[in-house]
Amino acid sequence: MQVRKAVLPVAGWGTRFLPATKAMPKEMFPIIDKPVIQFIVEECLSANIENVIFVTGRHKRPIEHHFDINTDLEKHLEQCGKTDLLKNIMEISRLINPIYIRQKEQLGLGHAVLVAEPVVGYEPFIVALGDIVVKDERNILERMIEVYNRFGKSVIAVFEVDTKDISKYGIINGRYIEKDIYIIDDLVEKPKQQEAPSNLAIVGRYLFTPRIFEKLKITPPGKGGEIQLTDAIRLLLEDEAVYAIKIDARVYDTGTPIGYIKTVLDFALQKEDLRDELIAYLRQLISNNIPQIDTV
Ligand code: UTP
Repeated sequence: MQVRKAVLPVAGWGTRFLPATKAMPKEMFPIIDKPVIQFIVEECLSANIENVIFVTGRHKRPIEHHFDINTDLEKHLEQCGKTDLLKNIMEISRLINPIYIRQKEQLGLGHAVLVAEPVVGYEPFIVALGDIVVKDERNILERMIEVYNRFGKSVIAVFEVDTKDISKYGIINGRYIEKDIYIIDDLVEKPKQQEAPSNLAIVGRYLFTPRIFEKLKITPPGKGGEIQLTDAIRLLLEDEAVYAIKIDARVYDTGTPIGYIKTVLDFALQKEDLRDELIAYLRQLISNNIPQIDTV
């Protein structure tokens, strides 16, 4: 069955960014001039996934507005002759077919995915976390879909992490099948370095068969009292094979203050119009020699 839909869970509280996230979703935080969530939507689009299901919550309305058509703004940009901006604004609101569904209570990531079941139906689907940006030469969703098309089973994207960072992630215990592809035997959530079965970490991109919904329905609350997606995947493993694909991409976790700052810096350094001035400013900062006034 063809993979046509992506679920983007964006209903979390974003407590690590409070008070900024009291009324503004962290998924709308800008990476220079583009909100985090737009990167993920663009990733879906370039994998030919147009049906994007946002699992939202209270205070997440700005996401809906962002992907809506704003005729006043379009008229204004047209009148000012800002054609590039106009094209940019028009594209993103017209290319996706967004569907919004509410997670009424924030009961965890697993629960957020389950909330999407009536919209997904009985077909394979992607889950892409709303605060993880992935940059790769080849679209990773496309590669995951290829693996699904071959094996007909769920596929999880994993990436290699430094041994010292292993305890921050969900780690797979997998058997090598062929270049970059593993079959998963087990998952361990945030293992101690010496107990980790590998250094392959789960990165926030999943492709599931609809069987995952059955498992989510019987997954008891786990860590933090939340229904954990990882726990449901472990239940799924009891019934059917789950594959992992190792990706060699840059992964940005914008969901933590330090991750967000690093992402903005990294993207700014890649922009020609910002790079030189930013490097000069960082040098000044490090040498503790910043001008008292630094405006443009
Ligand atoms: P996180 O755990 O990173 O997001 O979940 P959070 O809960 O908003 O963050 P903190 O811990 O309070 O700072 C990863 C993704 O899953 C979504 C989040 O919106 C985020 O994009 N999520 C999480 C839900 O949609 N529902 C939930 O119940 C939990």
